[in-house]
Amino acid sequence: MSEAAAISIDDVRDEAHPLVDKDLVRWHLIAAVFFMFTAMLGGFIASLQFLNEYPFNGISWLSYGRLRFLHTNEVAFGFLVNSFVGMLYYAVPRLTGRRLFNRTLGWLIFFVWQALVLLTSIGQLLGKAQAVEWGETPTGFRPGTFELNYVPVDFLIEVGAVLLAVNLLYPIAKSIHKRLYVSLWYITAGMIWLILTYVMGNTLPEWTLAGSSGGATAGLYIHDLVGLFVTPFGWGLMYFFVPIILRKPIWSHALSVIGFWALAFFYPLNGVHHFLYSSIPMSVQYGAIIATIAVEIVVTTVVVNFFGTMWGRGYALRQSIPIRWFYTGMVFYFTTCLQCSFQTTLTFQEIIHFTDWVPGHAHLVMLGVFAFWNMGMIVWLWPRLTGHEWYSRRLLGWHYWLVMLGLLIMFLDLTAAGLVHGFMFKNMAPWMRIVDSLKPFWWFRTFAGAMIITGVSCFIYNLWMTAKHDKPYDYRVDLVHDPKEAIANG
Ligand code: HEM
Repeated sequence: MSEAAAISIDDVRDEAHPLVDKDLVRWHLIAAVFFMFTAMLGGFIASLQFLNEYPFNGISWLSYGRLRFLHTNEVAFGFLVNSFVGMLYYAVPRLTGRRLFNRTLGWLIFFVWQALVLLTSIGQLLGKAQAVEWGETPTGFRPGTFELNYVPVDFLIEVGAVLLAVNLLYPIAKSIHKRLYVSLWYITAGMIWLILTYVMGNTLPEWTLAGSSGGATAGLYIHDLVGLFVTPFGWGLMYFFVPIILRKPIWSHALSVIGFWALAFFYPLNGVHHFLYSSIPMSVQYGAIIATIAVEIVVTTVVVNFFGTMWGRGYALRQSIPIRWFYTGMVFYFTTCLQCSFQTTLTFQEIIHFTDWVPGHAHLVMLGVFAFWNMGMIVWLWPRLTGHEWYSRRLLGWHYWLVMLGLLIMFLDLTAAGLVHGFMFKNMAPWMRIVDSLKPFWWFRTFAGAMIITGVSCFIYNLWMTAKHDKPYDYRVDLVHDPKEAIANG
């Protein structure tokens, strides 16, 4: 055994200086679940307003536009960022045999990050948002002006992302292993892309680029947040957790590397597909369409790899709730990307542009894929972080089925609504007739939202009770086992 490997094993055994800082991971996950819930409430109240139901009538800061910003920003920066960071703090030290660069820095990032997400939400509710989608942070230094509500949130987020990169890239650079496992490729690239993407989307369109160049950059930003931030972290962590839970190596390392390079090559160019039929030059729009269709190849390689890994372990879907979340997410990922390669064409855009089809697609990917993976990872980690057995495994099942069916209803419903809207609009139906035709679909969306929120409430109650009760966790409960072997062994 090499000296470096020996150090790592000592680290694991050293209770005073453990390899993974479980408190830091746990608090990031708590913050993630908190923001997931408040974001969903925001989405739910916003959905009521489509139905002319105004539970807080007359209160401007709970009006539709402001709640929508709160919903999307808290989902991305409150829920997904917190959850991913918690998971990375868990996975990176285990993959490299090294601790984070600095534990205190980790806590500093944690507190400042929560303050920034809260400041963003408060600013948005006060109506101080900026006009950049997903970049509505209510701030920025404006030369010559200073208002109290102009806290430099964007700038602080950029500094925070750099510090986070230092904390995570240090153990990767000092890894005790000669070769980096593919998860670390994704995580390293994801950290660098996150900084570049955030700076691009929150600096260029606001300060330097005007008109359609600003629009094109904002489009790149929206899509790169998905493709170059949540996707690399999501895939990287799936490559970490799936083999551990299934207890077998990934099916093909060659495919995993092809998937990585294809993502790096094709994804950055996708974003302009949000602005087809706009004043952005057609050459740029066609480039985005081709790159979007090419991404489908990437997705296929990755999905094939994960299903290859699952081969022979199908029973894990019944035995392991995290695996159920992960693989449901993978099926939705494939569906959403396939859908994307059609909807990016000008023919489809003619019908679905500016309709409910788009939020249907957005929920399938952000909730059905990335939120599902994060929920699965939390289900796997929570007993390990608290040292307690799950309070109720039955509630874990309710959580899965309510959220999964709620999302499916929401997706099918909004997709159908988009088609009705698009075709009526193309046939020049009067606007109010279109709105009246969409009302039943919007009721279904609210119903589906209520199912999702109920499922997540079961989860939160379960997390809370698990942390409180004192039945010790036995990791053997979570080991998947071949039922045929169990029968053969009597
Ligand atoms: C973690 C769970 C969720 C995620 C990740 C999520 C994500 C998103 C995203 C990405 C958008 C922007 C869509 C676009 O611009 O095309 C959005 C919009 C929206 N979401 Fe959610 N959402 C979640 C849960 C919910 C729930 C439970 C509801 C309740 C009904 C809801 C209601 C809405 C509404 C009303 C909009 C605005 C749609 C529009 O402007 O037409 N969301 N959500």
